Amino acid sequence: MNTHINRAVSSAPAKVILFGEHFVVYNNPAIVAAINRRIRVSAQLNDMSRVNIKSGENSLCVPVNSNDSDILSHDNSSISLFPIFKCVKHVFEEKNLVNVGVNLEIESQIPHGEGLGSSAASCVSTVAALYSLFSDLDKNQIYETARLMEQNIHTNSSGVDCYVSTFGGIVNFEPEKGFSKIRPKKKFTLLIGTSGIKHSTGKVVSQVRQFRQKNSSFFDDLSAKAHLICKKAISSMNEGNESELGSLLTENHNLLSILGVSHPEIEKLIKICLDNGALGAKLTGAGKGGAVIALIPNDSSKEILAKISRGPGKWILVEFDYDGVIPV
Ligand code: MEV
Repeated sequence: MNTHINRAVSSAPAKVILFGEHFVVYNNPAIVAAINRRIRVSAQLNDMSRVNIKSGENSLCVPVNSNDSDILSHDNSSISLFPIFKCVKHVFEEKNLVNVGVNLEIESQIPHGEGLGSSAASCVSTVAALYSLFSDLDKNQIYETARLMEQNIHTNSSGVDCYVSTFGGIVNFEPEKGFSKIRPKKKFTLLIGTSGIKHSTGKVVSQVRQFRQKNSSFFDDLSAKAHLICKKAISSMNEGNESELGSLLTENHNLLSILGVSHPEIEKLIKICLDNGALGAKLTGAGKGGAVIALIPNDSSKEILAKISRGPGKWILVEFDYDGVIPV
């Protein structure tokens, strides 16, 4: 075995989808940004041929050669770590590792199941830590593998979450053209509110698939509107037009509500934002719970945060992250 170092630590950021979630799964664009909340993974090889994963309250300790059904017959705490186990298996097979195992410790600042990309960031950070044991970080390789591993969480993944967690920044994704960076003319202040209602991205994505099957031409109309919103949002960012950007967020949210992926608690949080001076607000990520984002004027962010925080939801002001995955 040719290792580079014995222990490696990586950290990858959470993300918010600013525009285009769900529609992106069906060949439409999305605008996604990495934010300054991270998942840190430390990887250390062991000579017991075991995979030992610890992540908050959850843990999984199994032989490296366990198969998927062994893991999936465990309790929910272990099953939640199945995608991480798959990352280990993938890298170990790629590197032809035998008679060796790994201890992984995962520390997260990202609430799980709330649309902020914790699953993608944990795959990106795990894959990065594992590869770092053998060579220097190669972000393209990390993205390709993490994207493949995210399919263990939901099979229809567009890959945007893993991309932005790997490379950072604000990114426009157009399925036919690929990813391009957006550099807004001015700083935008973004507020995130989590509802505490967890969702399964895979389930919500398949509900949307059913909606699309039943309402194909209506879905196409909504997609065309979402596509146009993304185009306008890029211009607003390039021009630094925050009031237009805010209105576009709310317009995008209305399309997601029509798709059926909102939730009464999410609607409540959005109303609170709009009633208290936000320029626009929408759900972010898969929906059916999870988080909302609100654009608020730069010059009154603290006052607005204070007012909004009096109601339900947990609120934080976030900054965009331009580093993506990094060694620690
Ligand atoms: C989940 O964060 C975003 C979705 O659009 C799914 C995906 O893009 O893979 C709902």
